[in-house]
Amino acid sequence: MNIVGLETLVFGVEDMAAGRQYLLDYGLKEIDASAVGGTYEALDGTAVVLRHASDPGLPASNAPSPNLRETVYGVADAATLRALADNLSADREMRFDDEGSLHTLDDGGYAIAFCITRRRAIVAPHIGINVPGQAPGRAANVCAADKAEKILPRSLSHVVYFVPDVAKAEAFYQDRLGFRVTDRFIGLGPFMRPQGTLDHHCLFMIQSFNSHMVGMNHFTFHLGSANEVLHAGWRFAQQGYKSFWGPGRHIMGSNYFWYFNSPFGGTMEFDADMDLHDDSWSPRAMPPGSDNSQIFLFQHAPKWAPGE
Ligand SMILES: [Fe+2]
Repeated sequence: MNIVGLETLVFGVEDMAAGRQYLLDYGLKEIDASAVGGTYEALDGTAVVLRHASDPGLPASNAPSPNLRETVYGVADAATLRALADNLSADREMRFDDEGSLHTLDDGGYAIAFCITRRRAIVAPHIGINVPGQAPGRAANVCAADKAEKILPRSLSHVVYFVPDVAKAEAFYQDRLGFRVTDRFIGLGPFMRPQGTLDHHCLFMIQSFNSHMVGMNHFTFHLGSANEVLHAGWRFAQQGYKSFWGPGRHIMGSNYFWYFNSPFGGTMEFDADMDLHDDSWSPRAMPPGSDNSQIFLFQHAPKWAPGE
């Protein structure tokens, strides 16, 4: 199954204006906006779609509002879409919409969909760093610290679900969609990647242990670098958004992270520099906890300088 990764996340929100402003401040580009909602794109065309939680066109919710209402995966070609339809129609309701996207439910209770990917090549300035002993990453006289730096999310990275039965949910993604487990938190859940990408994960699932652990936990787009995560997060905090966790660097996936509260029912992350894995990789399994979640973690604090 040549699924290349996340294409679109569709949210049902209570406060459309707050959701819109949040995504613009995060750096996404508004492609369309109207009374029913809007579409907000990264550089490669992957996107977040906002709708009112009460929109009758949305799949049924599996968590209190606001929350994620549908996860759309991009697939490489029509043959993959046809194979998915043949496979999934064996034991569940599914439908094609007018644009040819396939909609159904996974075994964790989440609405999922598949479309032929519309991802496009990313056009963005080259990011280089200067490392002694290596060729210069930037030309002479190019300054890296730039207050006017434009930081644009490049690609939809991953989404994280709470699920009622993580073994059942994992089996669905592995056996029916061909996802690989890259790593695992013991007793909590797997990091998974579809076959069409080497990214460490585009899906992580967490076993729910109580009634508060429902729906989406968080989602994120890839930024270009650790510098971009730190600078974008710094700006975001200056704008008044509340830091939830980070900045830091994860161990499984190695991605730099910075999480913020959001109006989407979970947190939103800035992420960069995730590990890539192929089928020769042997999944690791670690007990959950801070020692295995982050190789380092900083706490955001207001800017300070002598005399201020
Ligand atoms: Fe994450």
